[in-house]
Amino acid sequence: MKKLLRPSCVLLIILSSYVPVRPQSPAARFFPTKDLMRIGVYYYPEHWPESQWDRDFGNMEKLGFEFVHMGEFAWAFMEPEEGKFDFAWLDRAVALAAKHNLKVILCTPTPTPPAWLAEKYPNSFLVGEDGRRREHGSRGNNALADADYLRLTERVVNELGRRYGKNPAVWGWQLDNEPNSPPDYGPSAQVAFREWLLAKYKTVEALNQEWGTAFWSLKYNDFGQVRPPNPSFLYGVSPHALLDFRRFTADQTAKFLNWQASILRRNTSPAQFITTNYISTIGSSDPRRSNELDFISYTMYPVGGGGGVGEDGFRLGWQHGIAWANAFYKPIKGVTGVMELQPGQVNWARINPQPAPGVIRMWLWHAFAGGLSFACNYRYRQPLYGSELYHYGIVNTDGVTPSPGGLQYSQVAREMRELRAKFDPAAKPPADYLARRTAILWNHENLWNIDYQRQTALWDTWGHAFRYLEAIKSAGAPLEVIDEAADFNQYKVLVAPAYQLLDEELVRKWTRYVEAGGHLVLTARTGQKRRNGWLWEGPWAAPIRPLIGAEVSFFDLLLENGNGEVSSKGATYGWNAWGDVLKPYEGTETLATYANQFYAGAAAATYRRLGKGSVTYIGVHTKDGRLEKELMREVYRRAGLAVADYPAGVYVDWRDGFWVAVNYNSKPVEIAVPPGAEILYGARQLKPADVLVWRQR
Ligand code: GAL
Repeated sequence: MKKLLRPSCVLLIILSSYVPVRPQSPAARFFPTKDLMRIGVYYYPEHWPESQWDRDFGNMEKLGFEFVHMGEFAWAFMEPEEGKFDFAWLDRAVALAAKHNLKVILCTPTPTPPAWLAEKYPNSFLVGEDGRRREHGSRGNNALADADYLRLTERVVNELGRRYGKNPAVWGWQLDNEPNSPPDYGPSAQVAFREWLLAKYKTVEALNQEWGTAFWSLKYNDFGQVRPPNPSFLYGVSPHALLDFRRFTADQTAKFLNWQASILRRNTSPAQFITTNYISTIGSSDPRRSNELDFISYTMYPVGGGGGVGEDGFRLGWQHGIAWANAFYKPIKGVTGVMELQPGQVNWARINPQPAPGVIRMWLWHAFAGGLSFACNYRYRQPLYGSELYHYGIVNTDGVTPSPGGLQYSQVAREMRELRAKFDPAAKPPADYLARRTAILWNHENLWNIDYQRQTALWDTWGHAFRYLEAIKSAGAPLEVIDEAADFNQYKVLVAPAYQLLDEELVRKWTRYVEAGGHLVLTARTGQKRRNGWLWEGPWAAPIRPLIGAEVSFFDLLLENGNGEVSSKGATYGWNAWGDVLKPYEGTETLATYANQFYAGAAAATYRRLGKGSVTYIGVHTKDGRLEKELMREVYRRAGLAVADYPAGVYVDWRDGFWVAVNYNSKPVEIAVPPGAEILYGARQLKPADVLVWRQR
């Protein structure tokens, strides 16, 4: 018998007065709010006999799908020989999809250059960290600065735009696939990197200065001597050079995508959107840099043999995945969708379990709860051949029988239609929910810099951020992941986890935010370095000291079996991954104290009021995150904000008049739905893998 979890604090949600929200983004025009979330599916017509296409599209329509995603990876079919294009097959597929009321997302096929291209232009493949050039036989290994690859890309993308840019059946475009910026050490990348550096530094003296090339006599006489730093060849590569190489690599991907968008736009109607599908938590590329796209979507595979909460967690899925992606991708352009969502068992994980019954429906509702405009499934048919054997689809190997995931998609498609009938355009976000609106400040450059010199193998940059995500969501707060250009004042609470690289301007912006009434939470490692990766000439973490009202005296790291202890309000918590040791200035309060090691009694977390707001510094990363969760609750409480207390993996969000609760936890949980609410799906006792949807009347 599974134990029933009861949130210790019951949150009553009260609909109240109007709270202003930001104006709609331009990309909102593609997705009328009343449509809520559109449901779609991937199809590769070129994989199947044409005699089956009509049947397949017909069955998609019957299952409730509203759009279909096609043309991805089909370069060899679009351009079977250099300069000879064949779109007749795709014309027929698009027309058949339209016949079955499916809108079409078309793709640029750039991750899969045909064999003729590879044979004639071998330099169109990147050279990896291993120093070896990739070759034809897979996908996504192209040299994004290679002139031939770019010339041929421009031509096929332009042909696609000319052919389908005005076709009313085509809803929008996906560029490439999961752009993930593998570092390229090939000849074209080397030239492009030097040009990038020249544009950034103008003179080689400036580059020498910023990279600190006096160290180990790395000094350059001209840009032509600079090579992309390769940590797998060289011991102790310069962290400053590497940081720039990572920035360059992410910029190359973004430039490639922005440029593809501009090629399409020569011919596409403004009614067609242009997006791409980043891997949800991609570390190498930076989705925010593809700023010429209408919006950015993401891909998501929650059950891949790890993560989850409790004994069934491996089937319920990685509980932070959709929660983070919703919060990260939507603020970029105000609109997002999940372009690929797992349909069932996959084939690429170390161990590929069956997802829990019903959990695919739950993921879809979680996507809905995060405000997504569409959710698309990878893929309609389970493949019978090719590299993705064993990967489920919406229909099984017979091509017609829906898989368990297929039936769940169909159910959500039906539920979405029912929900549209209930949609009230006048519904306003509840004021107490909006009041605790929280942001995480995130910059991939911190990730790149930390991960090269983590200082301890126990440090996990994503895991550190997810810990705060979890604390914020357990408090029932709406969350957005934002960048430094955002208006911080939109958020009552702002968390900057492990914000290692900064400048004084950012510290001033944080200070203004706090003085105006914001509640800032900074965490371990924050402010250690300048933007170029140098330490500050001055005391440790110098620029943040006046703001946090404390000295960061030093940090300590314990071994795997280390039993660091930190205490707060009479409770003790274990730690070993990271401990910033703090010395509060007068007027700053200590929230947590190291309880052992040679610095026992020193502060591990501090709090101070400043202007109308507050600054909390949490310098310790505990073993299980309970302390961080408690401290975050304390921040909300002191800010006068009502919070919930949901168990790990339970998310409750409001969207367009509907409350949605989902449960990735292996145990059922009782959700405090206020009396008088109308329950649309599910029950107050929310089972694992289940969904509860209600609205206030
Ligand atoms: C994704 C990829 C898809 C497909 C899928 C299989 O990462 O974008 O093309 O390979 O994985 O799960």
